Amino acid sequence: MDMLQLISCIHITIALLLFTQAKSSIEAPKETTTGCIADERIALLALRAGLSDPSNLLSSWNGGDCCRWKGVRCSNSTGHVVELDLHSPDCRNNFGSKLVLGGIISSSLVDLHHLQHLNLSCNDFGGAQIPEFFGSLRNLEHLDLSLSYFSGMIPPHLGNLSNLRYFILDSVDSSNYIYSTDITWLSRLSSLEHLDMSSVNLGSIQNWVTVVNMLPSLKSLRLFRCQLSSSPDSILHLNLSSIETLDISGNQFRKPITPNWFWELTSLRHLAISDNEFSGPFPDEIGNMTSMVKIDLSFNNLVGMIPSNMQNLCNLEELLLAYNNIDGSIAELFQRLPRSLPIVPSKNREKPPFARVPPPDPPLHRRRTSRSTAGLSARIRPVQRRYRTCPSVATTAGPPSPS
Ligand SMILES: *[C@@H]1O[C@H](CO)[C@@H](O)[C@H](O)[C@H]1NC(C)=O
Ligand SMILES: *[C@@H]1O[C@H](CO)[C@@H](O)[C@H](O)[C@H]1NC(C)=O
Ligand SMILES: *[C@@H]1O[C@H](CO)[C@@H](O)[C@H](O)[C@H]1NC(C)=O
Ligand SMILES: *[C@@H]1O[C@H](CO)[C@@H](O)[C@H](O)[C@H]1NC(C)=O
Ligand SMILES: *[C@@H]1O[C@H](CO)[C@@H](O)[C@H](O)[C@H]1NC(C)=O
Repeated sequence: MDMLQLISCIHITIALLLFTQAKSSIEAPKETTTGCIADERIALLALRAGLSDPSNLLSSWNGGDCCRWKGVRCSNSTGHVVELDLHSPDCRNNFGSKLVLGGIISSSLVDLHHLQHLNLSCNDFGGAQIPEFFGSLRNLEHLDLSLSYFSGMIPPHLGNLSNLRYFILDSVDSSNYIYSTDITWLSRLSSLEHLDMSSVNLGSIQNWVTVVNMLPSLKSLRLFRCQLSSSPDSILHLNLSSIETLDISGNQFRKPITPNWFWELTSLRHLAISDNEFSGPFPDEIGNMTSMVKIDLSFNNLVGMIPSNMQNLCNLEELLLAYNNIDGSIAELFQRLPRSLPIVPSKNREKPPFARVPPPDPPLHRRRTSRSTAGLSARIRPVQRRYRTCPSVATTAGPPSPS
């Protein structure tokens, strides 16, 4: 290497060094926003500007890296905001809590194109309608608007959220009034696994079973106290093969307990149909629900004795029968109960109590306003939780050979 080459090498090195320094000093202000996409930060700031936040819950919402703000989560591969969890910290505990967000939800939210989780539960949006633009958040998988004081009609635009897996709109115990007069948009939420619209007024809707039967991935359906009045005897073609939880308590079906479409859902583990004015004898159909873990039949007009095939329910842990008209001997009742149920019984409406066990406090959102002072409950409840393997059911194929 001659001198000329060496000098030009040094020149290049110096030039490179200078260039690098210049570059880093130009980029310095940008560095504070690492991990946060500028447009999404602007959208979040616009959202914050519309919200009222008396307890300063969003005090961390300043500084460049919006991915570090409370409740914001970004994808660590793409940097996009994927989760906005703004639920109130005082959820379901402190009625009238001021630890809530309120005000206006800015439509700038739709600029978070990659948002998958939106949780606004337990806030106080002062009876505002659920914004129609929520239907444009195409990547949403979880939407939780429970107990957040929305009211008015649910916008059918939410039917555009075809990736939604959780849709929680339970408004039990809030004084607001959310309703829908047509839920056919729900049938387009083909990925839906968990749907809770408890306390949403669906009183004018007759075809709700047809609609939910178009959601083949549904695992849990809670329509507690929705003023539903129609419960079809059967469904022609059953799609709900994965359903494990059905709570349709507190509606007004006022019909015989059988026939009813839900007896066909043999995958069910939890069934709550209390407080519906179902009438007639305890149905034999229960004996076919062999996956059942919890059944709540309380507050209906069922009569007679539980069927002897209840013995089939070898995973049953909780059976609530309060406020029906059980008729027959206690010995017979005990004989018919599955052995998986350790027994802590109490009172039946017509009979003297044979053990006094006050019912445990129901969760706040399940407290009934009417008939809640009724006192003792015919509650038959396990004292311990355990799962049992059901004895294998004899099939025509017979047991597998040990060879
Ligand atoms: C992304 O973040 C999650 C949770 O913080 C973490 O478990 C995961 O390992 C991260 N992935 C990568 C690729 O860094
Ligand atoms: C929303 O947040 C609450 C409180 O943490 C939580 O219980 C609930 O599961 C969340 N909702 C969803 C859909 O993840
Ligand atoms: C979303 O749904 C509404 C109501 O169903 C519909 O009018 C609208 O065109 C849909 N929007 C988009 C962008 O598809
Ligand atoms: C069953 O679900 C599929 C997929 O959503 C739907 O196309 C079909 O119409 C449903 N069948 C009935 C009888 O509702
Ligand atoms: C129970 O299931 C069996 C087999 O699927 C069926 O033949 C029978 O009718 C069912 N019993 C009742 C009471 O639904």
